[in-house]
Amino acid sequence: MRLLLQFLARQESFKNFMMRFKFFQDTAWRFVAGETLQDAIRAARVVNSAGMRASLDLLGENVLARDDASKAVRQVLEMLDTIQIEQVDCNVSIKLTQLGLDLDKEFCYQNLREIVQHASRLKNFIRVDMEQSKYTQPTLDLVRRVHREYENVGAVIQSYLHRSEQDVRELLQEGLRIRLCKGAYLEPPSVAYEKKQDTDANYVKLMKMLLDSPQYHGIATHDIAMLEATKEYARERNIAAEHFEFQMLYGVRRDLQRGLAREGYNMRVYIPYGRQWYPYFMRRLAERPANLLFILRNLFQD
Ligand code: FDA
Repeated sequence: MRLLLQFLARQESFKNFMMRFKFFQDTAWRFVAGETLQDAIRAARVVNSAGMRASLDLLGENVLARDDASKAVRQVLEMLDTIQIEQVDCNVSIKLTQLGLDLDKEFCYQNLREIVQHASRLKNFIRVDMEQSKYTQPTLDLVRRVHREYENVGAVIQSYLHRSEQDVRELLQEGLRIRLCKGAYLEPPSVAYEKKQDTDANYVKLMKMLLDSPQYHGIATHDIAMLEATKEYARERNIAAEHFEFQMLYGVRRDLQRGLAREGYNMRVYIPYGRQWYPYFMRRLAERPANLLFILRNLFQD
């Protein structure tokens, strides 16, 4: 089922079919703050008022035209300005395929650099999300290249990839800040662990490497076992709660988000918004069968 949903996430015709159903869009609003920047700022304010930070993500990926990538850059620059003006505690997450990675690597680099430079002036931080494994190397290459000039950019590592331990070692040596997640894409066994227990074991191993390093990292998960392992390791090694942050997705396990913030941990909520929410939403459905059952029940009642 998970594989099917991840496959459907890439099918335009299925998207067009499902978009006819209002409940489908309504369900998406559980995971997506809305279509406009103002919707996202409003969601970030709510998150801030509960003692948590936010990361805004303008949805969109795999752009096919340079104009679309340039438009995304302008929108992200506007987002950074608005965060500053509105005084929300919030950084920004972006995807390199939205900035033209599929079109031209150098063009994408210039786009990323422009965004990170602007964020640097505003004392904000840019997190570069990680996409499918064919983008892992180019993404890390570009993040590293920009990081040599600007410190306010960080990478994402997926614990389901066999290569991640080596990547973490290299990124830590260069002083990069990392968000650790499990990984949300459909990957072949040649590059990714197939069993959840292997991905989880690798997650714990990588989490320890991050916590032991001097940089400030993000531990992104809703998995109670991963959260407990992180807290326990921090306790064992006397690592202060301010040394790292937990990160979770908008609309997922709000109870845990607020609970961790109340316990005194740094908590950041990833808030996606924008018109291109379909692939993001489908990945969220693929993560949890209960989400899909809800959709199917509505489909047959409609
Ligand atoms: P796991 O999938 O084992 O889920 C544990 C529990 O969490 C579930 O039992 C359920 O209770 C809850 N849960 C998880 N997903 C849910 C959902 N969709 N709906 C409802 N409940 C859910 N991936 C990637 O490839 N590149 C990236 O850049 C990012 N970025 C990112 C940022 C942040 C802040 C987070 C939290 C996650 C990502 N991810 C990501 C997604 C990540 O790789 C992964 O797919 C999801 O976080 C689900 O994995 P968990 O660690 O939550 O564990």
